Amino acid sequence: MKPAPWERVYREGRDLYTVNRNPGTKVYGEALSTVDGVEYRAWDPFRSKLAAFLLKGAPADVLGRPPRTVLYLGAAHGTTVSHLSDLWPEATLFAIEKSPTSFARLLALARQRPGLVPILADAQLPERYQADVGAVELLYQDIAQRNQAGIFVENARACLSPRGRGILMLKVRSVTQQRPTATVVREARSALSAARLAVAYETALTPFSREHAALAVVA
Ligand SMILES: C[S@@+](CC[C@H](N)C(=O)[O-])C[C@H]1O[C@@H](n2cnc3c(N)ncnc32)[C@H](O)[C@@H]1O
Repeated sequence: MKPAPWERVYREGRDLYTVNRNPGTKVYGEALSTVDGVEYRAWDPFRSKLAAFLLKGAPADVLGRPPRTVLYLGAAHGTTVSHLSDLWPEATLFAIEKSPTSFARLLALARQRPGLVPILADAQLPERYQADVGAVELLYQDIAQRNQAGIFVENARACLSPRGRGILMLKVRSVTQQRPTATVVREARSALSAARLAVAYETALTPFSREHAALAVVA
């Protein structure tokens, strides 16, 4: 097991790992591997777009220094959130999810992982949770909605601290079935730039996730 370019991420061959905060416990059926008494969880790039983003060449500083506060939009059952909780056990991770079914599993995960704060809410209405969340250092979004860039911008306005970082996982075909991918990504970049969010790195997530582009921004 070797350190990967991203702080606290490990690599063995082509596979990424994080140190398991709950040794002996899997979150989504991932492989566990113990080396020199430390248990690692495999970080599956086909299940987590963030792992795919790292493997597609995201720069070493894409996640910044370990953040103290994170706002995660579209947490679902907590697959990716669980790896962030492995990476940053000292951070507060606010995880927004609007599906009550997914939220129930997220709540169960939060009981095992201090610092994870699930919030049942619609990410299109950040004013509903802004007071609880405050200003975060990292904003992460993975929701399949037509106005994904607009949702990201509104949440950045409401909750991202000055010089904070963000990652937008853009599902192109949820925006439109008609326009070409390059056009949709260009429109998202324009919306981000207009909100003074500078795109530092962008890539498609193929072959791990089709129809997705990942955009890393700095406020
Ligand atoms: C692709 S899944 C997220 C997977 C997750 N990010 C991961 O990597 O583990 C998208 C999630 O976004 C949620 N979602 C969609 N629209 C939303 C909204 N407006 N507000 C909050 N959550 C939303 C869906 O219920 C779904 O659970």
